[in-house]
Amino acid sequence: MNTPAATGAPPETRGLESAFEDTIARDQRVEPRDWMPEGYRKTLVRQIAQHAHSEIIGMQPEGEWITRAPSLRRKAILFAKVQDEAGHGLYLYSAAETLGADRSDMTERLIEGRQKYSSIFNYPTRTFADVGVIGWFVDGAAICNQVPLCRSSYGPYGRAMVRVCKEESFHQRQGYELLLTMMRGTDAQRAMVQDAVNRWWWPSLMMFGPPDDNSPNSARSMAWKIKRHTNDQLRQRFVDMTVPQAEKLGVTLPDPELRRNEERGHHDFGSPDWAELQRVISGDGPCNAERIARRRAAHEEGAWVREAATAHAAKQAARTREGAAA
Ligand SMILES: [Fe+2]
Ligand SMILES: [Fe+2]
Repeated sequence: MNTPAATGAPPETRGLESAFEDTIARDQRVEPRDWMPEGYRKTLVRQIAQHAHSEIIGMQPEGEWITRAPSLRRKAILFAKVQDEAGHGLYLYSAAETLGADRSDMTERLIEGRQKYSSIFNYPTRTFADVGVIGWFVDGAAICNQVPLCRSSYGPYGRAMVRVCKEESFHQRQGYELLLTMMRGTDAQRAMVQDAVNRWWWPSLMMFGPPDDNSPNSARSMAWKIKRHTNDQLRQRFVDMTVPQAEKLGVTLPDPELRRNEERGHHDFGSPDWAELQRVISGDGPCNAERIARRRAAHEEGAWVREAATAHAAKQAARTREGAAA
């Protein structure tokens, strides 16, 4: 554990450090005004920035289907969902800013490949069934990851997660409802759903990160109560939650080792291809280059909006000053 003595804090911060440790031990929130160890701040900035980037990059795979949605109703639902993800990104950038991070700096780091985003968004969306499966699997995995984060020790992050989780749960249900509709359709539609399930299952399991024995930052994040469960615990929770839903839907999850283990009270399942996860994380997934190029183009094309907003804010401020002086 991180006792003040163990971290070798200089004498002037020892009191502050023990107050911080007390806050964590009592399960209370650390707030932006509170003193916090530099390692805690850095870990949070890294995690929150990565989370924010995932929401923003995550708009792309499904966003590609907005113009090709099969009906006005599906278009409206998808449009709203993708817009929600933009909102999640903005909450999270704001939470990172309370730790002293700078939003344009985070965007630069993303575009230059110095900060990561979730590996899942580097896979292509081949058919409209992918939209449903992303809602079911990817938003479902996001819920498993994020519900415990509502109790994260850092106040602004935990509070942002409460609203984000409500919306993710809506996303998951809309994805599942879309798939239920397709499964009641034609053979071709059922085949599309099964194909999308086959392609997204393993990458979805990889979303929880490497196995616990190969996850270097987990222990510290757990000790600081930034993270509440390990990668493997969350992955297990996702599998247990998804199996009965797959049965109800009438699709097969592509894992011959998947079966209920009555003794453990959980499902046993096969191991994802960790080498593939490493490749995708290090930039060599099917769509990494495309995702970053798109984000870079959007950032460059949006420069005039940021300039106009800055000029407008300056004008407003000047007017307020003139008004106050008059
Ligand atoms: Fe989201
Ligand atoms: Fe979502």
